[in-house]
Amino acid sequence: KKRVVSGVQPTGSIHLGNYLGAIKNWVSLQDTYETLFFIVDLHAITLPYDAPQLSKTTRSTAAIYLACGIDTSKASVFVQSHVRAHVELMWLLSSATPLGWLNKMIQFKEKSRKAGDENVGVALLTYPVLMASDILLYQSDLVPVGDDQKQHLELTRELAERINYLYGRKKWKKMGGRGGSLFKVPEPLIPPAGARVMSLTDGLSKMSKSAPSDQSRINLLDPKDVIVNKIKRCKTDSFPGLEFDNPERPECNNLLSIYQLVTGKTKEEVAQECREMNWGTFKTNLADALIDHLHPIQMRYEEITSDPDYLDRILSDGATRAAEIADITLNNVYQAMGFLPR
Ligand code: TYM
Repeated sequence: KKRVVSGVQPTGSIHLGNYLGAIKNWVSLQDTYETLFFIVDLHAITLPYDAPQLSKTTRSTAAIYLACGIDTSKASVFVQSHVRAHVELMWLLSSATPLGWLNKMIQFKEKSRKAGDENVGVALLTYPVLMASDILLYQSDLVPVGDDQKQHLELTRELAERINYLYGRKKWKKMGGRGGSLFKVPEPLIPPAGARVMSLTDGLSKMSKSAPSDQSRINLLDPKDVIVNKIKRCKTDSFPGLEFDNPERPECNNLLSIYQLVTGKTKEEVAQECREMNWGTFKTNLADALIDHLHPIQMRYEEITSDPDYLDRILSDGATRAAEIADITLNNVYQAMGFLPR
């Protein structure tokens, strides 16, 4: 079976972008692939964060995975920091990561600028190396992510090839390694729709956990009245009718896409249905569709979080299974890089 891995940072609350761009697609992969989904708590400390909250948001993110339909009889769900190999491999990878590659990362540039450049922790710079470690440890074939992770995936692929070149070829073959390479080179899996869910208050910027206004996003755990209110107040335009793909109407395209994804209709069906609709009617329909889609997730979330032992067991089993795979890769890399075995 081919292997799929992915993760979400436990910072702030999980929103519709994380769901439509990533988690919702994970659910449909777990039948066909061997899947591992982690909560990337080590990535969450790369910007100033609230230490007493970290364990809570980590648990809550795990509960959201399950509530969205991740089935732990099929997928391994675990916390990144519980599998020590992630950090260990990161160090090994970082020795072969050119600084220039990291300096080019758009997310690093944006986040460090916002945080005041020189004061930013170096972990924000090396963040993509940890992400590469998350992926390469499991010899992953596919990584389902939203559009904003494309560049990090590209770096992961280049790093895998570089390490394979530096340490993988002859040495690794001599030790009986598969195909003469240490790492499988993974492919990103970016959904055709939902890969870039935009803000409710500005159709040109992406929906994000860190945007100051909560009005800009729908959180998966938002109660009904909050959803209704956010949709009522979201940005629209004054063109007649509703349509996809008009560059002058980014908000319209975004809201129709969200509607399409939460109703499970096709783009053509939605285009047809909404062609002559006014904003008032559409907003009511969209809010209803969102509530219908999110309500069962929220019910399951309540159920899952009412039994903390259950979640602990899942996470502990998940970490055990993951560590078994991760340790094999890690040991192979140590050997290939010439370390004295213990
Ligand atoms: P994070 O926590 O920022 O986002 C989690 C996932 O949600 C997607 N996403 C979006 N998709 C569509 N529209 C949006 N507005 C939107 N905002 C976020 C992201 O693309 C992502 O798939 N570095 C990663 C986490 C990570 C990871 C990994 C992912 C760490 N290690 C290994 C895959 C494999 C991140 O910060 O995601």
